[in-house]
Amino acid sequence: MPLHVVDHPLIVHKLSILRDKTTSVKKFREVVNEITMLLAYEATRDLPMDDVDVETPLCTAHTRMLKQGELVVAPILRAGLGMMPGMLDILPTARVAHLGLKRDEQTHKPITYYMNMPTSLKGAIVLVVDPMLATAGSLCAAIDLLKEQQPAKIVAVCLIAAPEGAQRMETTHPDVHIYVGALDEKLNERAYIVPGLGDAGDRMFGTA
Ligand code: PRP
Ligand code: URA
Repeated sequence: MPLHVVDHPLIVHKLSILRDKTTSVKKFREVVNEITMLLAYEATRDLPMDDVDVETPLCTAHTRMLKQGELVVAPILRAGLGMMPGMLDILPTARVAHLGLKRDEQTHKPITYYMNMPTSLKGAIVLVVDPMLATAGSLCAAIDLLKEQQPAKIVAVCLIAAPEGAQRMETTHPDVHIYVGALDEKLNERAYIVPGLGDAGDRMFGTA
């Protein structure tokens, strides 16, 4: 199953800070950034590489560097924006595809309100970022939009997933590997992840 739960002690510790309802907006943003970089480390493990020779002060080192190619970070607005700086710190040459999706509060289905992608994603490796994978409606819709542009590969990076959303992704987009910091217990009647961390966008932007 292409769900990778990266339950490293650093991530578990930092997620506990995010889960705490008394954590400030400032701290929340900082810790989201830190966890994103840790998850990105795992999510980029399979990036293609080229053999290169580098002159060290002593001799020639036969080593490898990331293959030149299109890397795209695709944040799902709003909350995914909080994960963008961490991703771009790790992948400074990546381009960005903004995907504006908002879950309807009654139906829990996503509504697309904004989209701004690089002109071509053909052959690109796309890393979609969104802190919460709840019903997976938003992530599935984002991936549907991205797949229309024929990228070579899509990888998703989320902070917390619900079993329901993970199952839906497995059924709908079995080719997409998903890296998460935690797989929580369930969704509640409002389709929020339990125990979760609440509304990620509100906590990130102080709009609660
Ligand atoms: C949240 C979250 C995901 C989505 C997850 O965004 O950031 O995008 O809900 O839920 P799902 O898996 O059931 O689709 P929201 O729609 O609340 O928008 P926001 O980021 O603007 O707050
Ligand atoms: N969106 C959030 O921000 N949190 C949840 O738990 C579910 C969807």
